[in-house]
Amino acid sequence: MTVSSSTSKVLTIDTINPHVRTMEYAVRGALPIRAEQLVRELRNKDNKLPFDKITFCNIGNPQQLGQKPLTFIRQVTALVEYTDLLKDENMELTKKMFPEDAIDRAKNILGWTNNAIGAYTESLGIHEIRESVAKFIEERDGFAADADSIGLTAGASVAVERILNLIISSSNVGIMIPIPQYPLYTATIAKLDAHAVPYYLRENKQWGLNAEELKQVLSEHKAKGIDVRALVVINPGNPTGSLLTKENMVDIVRFCEENKLVLIADEVYQANIYQPERRPFHSFKKIVRELDSSVELFSLHSISKGMIGECGRRGGYYETVNLDKDVSDQLYKMAAVSLCPNVTGQVAVEIMVNPPKKGEPSYNLYQQELNDIYESMRRRSIKLCDAFNALENITCNSAEGAMYLFPQIRFPKKAIQAAEELGKSPEFLYCMGLLESTGVCVVPGGGFHQEPGTFHFRSTFLPPEDQLDQFIERIKGFHDSFMDKYRD
Ligand SMILES: Cc1ncc(COP(=O)(O)O)c(C=O)c1O
Repeated sequence: MTVSSSTSKVLTIDTINPHVRTMEYAVRGALPIRAEQLVRELRNKDNKLPFDKITFCNIGNPQQLGQKPLTFIRQVTALVEYTDLLKDENMELTKKMFPEDAIDRAKNILGWTNNAIGAYTESLGIHEIRESVAKFIEERDGFAADADSIGLTAGASVAVERILNLIISSSNVGIMIPIPQYPLYTATIAKLDAHAVPYYLRENKQWGLNAEELKQVLSEHKAKGIDVRALVVINPGNPTGSLLTKENMVDIVRFCEENKLVLIADEVYQANIYQPERRPFHSFKKIVRELDSSVELFSLHSISKGMIGECGRRGGYYETVNLDKDVSDQLYKMAAVSLCPNVTGQVAVEIMVNPPKKGEPSYNLYQQELNDIYESMRRRSIKLCDAFNALENITCNSAEGAMYLFPQIRFPKKAIQAAEELGKSPEFLYCMGLLESTGVCVVPGGGFHQEPGTFHFRSTFLPPEDQLDQFIERIKGFHDSFMDKYRD
């Protein structure tokens, strides 16, 4: 196919939406792009690369690194997808292959969709599944939830985008976001041409929040004429792996209430809690209700995280609290414009919030699989954190939750100079060097934003447990030679 010169194109880099151009998304940025190229090079058996595989630690995508899907989710999904398995003439075989509760669940779900899993559902998702979500929230928090305040989405990303679209009414709007943050927020705010208003998490306080700083940041931005309308919290944190204290959460709700800010609580890692006695998870919904607060809250959850890790299946939900009815109607309309969330994602949400119950045939296996993944993630988080802390010039907070570690590196001056000469940040130099020499793909801290003058990278702790020692050895080998090369 011939390609005409770019001047004859309607769409060029200069004519597309400029806000798309300014958007950055580091977890799928330069490092992962190079990693994908290396994957292709590795397929060539004459390659001269010094490693035999790429380990993708740039994104919390557990099944990419071999995490086994939960059997029950796949059984129910298989049955709702291939309904011939449920025909009378096939039931004998099906009963040999599938436990009774998976068959019952599949039949129920099919009943909710009029036996048509390939049909559009209600715009907010299947009503019965939203009822299951409401029940899950009630049991989690001890406060009532309403299916009509819940919207199912194709992952939490869709919910974030929809909510920010709703809130950002002009380019003068500011959204308070934690720094470091998950780049979905800066990217979406940039795309909508609004202002990201950063508040910093304190690395030396286990990435805790300073409530006084919130006030200061808000008044500084208000003084500049920015219409700050919402505050985002990621709890447990990405990339920090930290959990907010209950005191911090109360401060945040009070702060939002006093300053008329909408609260967006990204709680996709609520099941990844590794020090539950010391730092348990509390939902913002529960805190809002306990305080009897009128704050307008959006809270998000996802099937991509927890022990489920069904990232590619795309499922999640948001719950709204204290939202004006007219605004809910507009949010409904936004969902309606994209018709409905994908149905297999909805099915996985149903099972996440309504897993097999005690006494049902799949209960033990489900719990066993969940627990094995949980315990392994917890052990891996500790082992990798200890390994980072044992490296020269690296300090790393432990993970209280989520799937990530965000170690800080203090670079020798020579490394900083070498990076400057290349027009790159030192952590980019480090992460690219790590990738090129070991096949380990992590993300430079700048992609998440960070306190000026500090340097970090983010790594998941998702490599399989039986490969973790080798993984750590690869990082250590590179790290030591990097530090030797640039030693002052
Ligand atoms: C904090 C946070 N929010 C949202 C998402 C998006 O999740 P989903 O796969 O449900 O779109 C991620 C994904 O890594 C995340 O870390």
